[in-house]
Amino acid sequence: MFDLKILVTAALPYANGPLHLGHIRSTYLPADIYSRYQRLAGNECLYICATDEHGTPIVVGAEKAGKKPKEFTDEYHLKDKKEFTALGFQFDIFHRTTSEENRKLTQHFFARLKEGGHIYTKEVEQPFCEKCSRFLPDRFIVGTCPHCKSERQYSDYCDSCSNTIGSGQLVNPQCITCGSVPSYRKSQHYFFKLASFSDKLRAYLTGNRFLQREVVNYVVNWIDGGLQDWDISRDLSWGVPIPGEPDKVFYVWFDAPIGYISSTMALRPDWEDFWKGDSTIVHFIGKDIIYHHFLFWPAMLMGVGEDFRAPDKMAVRGYLNLEHRKFSKSRGWFVSLEDYLKEFPADYLRYYQTAFTPHNVQDADFIWKDFQSKINNELVASIGNFVHRTLVLTEKLNGNTVPAPNDLDSEDRRLLGEITSSKEKIASLIAEFQLKEGQEEILRLCGEFNRFLSLREPWKEKDKAKVLRTLYVSLRFVSSLSILLEPYLPFTAGKLQKMLSVPREKVAWKNADAELVAPGAPLPKPVPLFEKISDEKIKAQEGRLQKNDPALTKP
Ligand code: MSP
Ligand code: ZN
Repeated sequence: MFDLKILVTAALPYANGPLHLGHIRSTYLPADIYSRYQRLAGNECLYICATDEHGTPIVVGAEKAGKKPKEFTDEYHLKDKKEFTALGFQFDIFHRTTSEENRKLTQHFFARLKEGGHIYTKEVEQPFCEKCSRFLPDRFIVGTCPHCKSERQYSDYCDSCSNTIGSGQLVNPQCITCGSVPSYRKSQHYFFKLASFSDKLRAYLTGNRFLQREVVNYVVNWIDGGLQDWDISRDLSWGVPIPGEPDKVFYVWFDAPIGYISSTMALRPDWEDFWKGDSTIVHFIGKDIIYHHFLFWPAMLMGVGEDFRAPDKMAVRGYLNLEHRKFSKSRGWFVSLEDYLKEFPADYLRYYQTAFTPHNVQDADFIWKDFQSKINNELVASIGNFVHRTLVLTEKLNGNTVPAPNDLDSEDRRLLGEITSSKEKIASLIAEFQLKEGQEEILRLCGEFNRFLSLREPWKEKDKAKVLRTLYVSLRFVSSLSILLEPYLPFTAGKLQKMLSVPREKVAWKNADAELVAPGAPLPKPVPLFEKISDEKIKAQEGRLQKNDPALTKP
């Protein structure tokens, strides 16, 4: 029945803060476009996601909010799910890493890796707060950045100068809760022998032609520089418990990727067909988590055996900045999804972000003025305008029914042929992750049809047969758009399908160039697909940011 089995995942969002426009750009939107297309193409494609609910940032966030970690992540899990749904992301499951399935599978992975001799223990010195009587892993310590001297930075990373901070380098370290200076205590930690996978990893990375070369090149450089074994344990109570260790849990990056599999298990009894069988496993991630996906995760899968294999494809995209600055919630330089969705349609964000996101790791900027001009000049002026002109002309010139032309001339046939070749071109572009180029092809085709309509001038054409042909061909493209746009702009595509009464069973990629609405069929009263974005709305958004502009508020 289906052609291929495809498993698509998008990096699991940390359930410790609101989603913002950046998350969407690199990860969730590309994965949604890709999996929507795969389903339309007749493949059995699962789109898997979940909230990543462990780790110290969650514990710290919960403490700040005066909540238990579970309560805290419950809230973000629901919030993320709601906002993702509002953006049209069609997950087959949106699960959680705190699930029973994930706890069990993580412990199983650990047991298998231990059996295979891939894990050893070592005593290490860990910062400890005497007053709070607990260890202080990762984000539990703040201090002064050794690079830029900015205060209250975490022990591993400076949010101000974006430099990583090596262990022990932080100046004036303090317990995040009580401010005490940490002491050091010995603790037994579990290490995964990442270094021993170096050769296998190199072979996997260089042998897989579906991985981006630029990414592979610098991951191979890391390998050549020598990999460190990986501490997968933490002295913490929030996390997946390490069997036989009452006070320890796994490091969040150990159980998080396992969440991809455990979420599939929760969805499908035949999950193994996707993870071990004849399928394609595709991960979508942002560039900051390359290390984890190109090294840790494949090594874990290689080490665990049981017919698991390293990912077949990984699509990595760059970071999004906001008006030339890093997103920062604490500084108010931030547009949450929630805020965006209050003001603008989901498809506008989908369109704009796809338009500046090629399949590479280059960063880009969200700029409110660009957003406005892309939407107004392309989405509204080209796609929206073509659809509206066609529907209004059909109403005026053919009593709002689909015309039944007797025959088509060569220009008509050429244009219909263009739909077929674009359909094929877009299909191969999307399959190769060239999502931006696929969207551009739709726009290019729209330009062709706009020119066709303008040249034919059906509004002043005396030859009725020619008018009918023109309208018929134009309507054919409108109905094609209802399929071609579905991966990119699902809400718009849905509207078009409804307007034209395209039956759901006909919504398939192979039908994108077919006659989807029969001649003689009535059409509803035309209403515009899109609305222009006004200057006021953009000024209001810019104003909100300017009021938080650090340059303006500096004393
Ligand atoms: N929880 C980890 C992923 C675990 S996957 C087993 C994580 N979470 S995250 O919430 O920080 O990020 C989720 C995704 O959003 C990641 O792919 C990350 O790269 C992406 N982005 C987060 N901020 C972003 C930008 N400003 N720009 C582009 N992508 C961004 O990482
Ligand atoms: Zn303390």
